[in-house]
Amino acid sequence: MAAKQARGGARAVADAPALDADALLEDREVRIVVCCGSGGVGKTTTAAALAVRAAEAGRQVVVLTIDPARRLAQALGLEELDNTPRPVAGLDLSAGGSLDAMMLDMKRTFDEVVQAHATPEKAEQILANPFYQAVSSSFAGTQEYMAMEKLGQLHAQLSAGGDAPRWDLIVVDTPPSRSALDFLDAPSRLGSFLDGRFIRILAAPARAGSRAYLKVFSAGVNVVSNTLSKVLGARLLRDVQTFVAALDTMFGGFRERADQTYALLQQQGTRFLVVATPERDALREAAFFVDRLDRDDMPLAGLVINRVQRTRANGLSAGRAMAAAETLPEGSVTAAILRLHADLAETAARHEARARAFTAAYPETPVVAVPAAAEDIHDLTALREIGVALADG
Ligand SMILES: Nc1ncnc2c1ncn2[C@@H]1O[C@H](COP(=O)(O)OP(=O)(O)OP(=O)(O)O)[C@@H](O)[C@H]1O
Ligand SMILES: [Mg+2]
Repeated sequence: MAAKQARGGARAVADAPALDADALLEDREVRIVVCCGSGGVGKTTTAAALAVRAAEAGRQVVVLTIDPARRLAQALGLEELDNTPRPVAGLDLSAGGSLDAMMLDMKRTFDEVVQAHATPEKAEQILANPFYQAVSSSFAGTQEYMAMEKLGQLHAQLSAGGDAPRWDLIVVDTPPSRSALDFLDAPSRLGSFLDGRFIRILAAPARAGSRAYLKVFSAGVNVVSNTLSKVLGARLLRDVQTFVAALDTMFGGFRERADQTYALLQQQGTRFLVVATPERDALREAAFFVDRLDRDDMPLAGLVINRVQRTRANGLSAGRAMAAAETLPEGSVTAAILRLHADLAETAARHEARARAFTAAYPETPVVAVPAAAEDIHDLTALREIGVALADG
């Protein structure tokens, strides 16, 4: 993309190639944009802003959000968790685009997977199982697994033949987690757990079909089972066993499913946007993520540095503002304004330095800086402003 090479511009980060969100969104080859990053950096906001901008530029967009703040959800017309993409009202669709938004319902997505792969009778049995209910709503990694699963489903709809597909672009938000890498790692970790040895040992007594198997292993299994039933309680253990046995008969393996969606993320047409704030921890996570994408051949669009402090009076440094404030009488309004400016200028300088440090280490990575707004981003107007900033590099 030639636009990546452009330099300068009010919000570009010095020395970094500029990330141009418009070039990304206008590229019809791009079908999936994934917004990743560590917790609280602005993934959901960025995903929503990109989706709005793409739709207003004429693309048929669906955005998959995860745990959006309540007021943002309302602005997108999302009243409750459900897995149905719904049209977003209030957009300027004169360029012929459209936007549907949805919030991931992790539990329901899990249920859908079960229903799609088991006989109705068996599905009912699994859905009623207490262990299943616990795993599907709270197990570490379930949200990531289900976000991947949902992405896979949306993508299948997008590329289905026959009728013209409803969307040509999927924008994906990723679950809140401390580490950005969880989105890539958790699904196969959960898959490995569900497919793994530990759970097979647990499941063994319920798969009592094979006598020979039992004969060889029963001693060991019984020791394990007995110990576990003391720890977990006999009832829970039985639930786990029936649950796993039931899953076992219907899936080609959780791990395999996770691997399939993983492969989707490596395809041409997928682009990752890594979101970070101009803070050390967030940028370090972003760097890990960039390395990982590189290692796994996943296409990186660039880094969004979100909530960057800018000052209006760029010519006035923090030091000079403080020095000037010192010369004014105690209680002077001008002195207070100078001190406030000094504060902001100091933050701005720190943010700039952090961004430069990232770029020094990753000189090829396109970057765009999005200014910190005075308020939370919870309506379409604010989302459009973020969109402008994303494209303004
Ligand atoms: N540029 C910005 N200026 C001001 N506020 C912002 C900006 N970007 C995001 N915010 C606010 O920061 C908060 C966190 O943003 P958001 O929910 O998008 O982060 P997230 O990465 O999705 O968080 P989580 O990891 O919890 O899912 C929200 O209240 C949002 O409105
Ligand atoms: Mg979020």
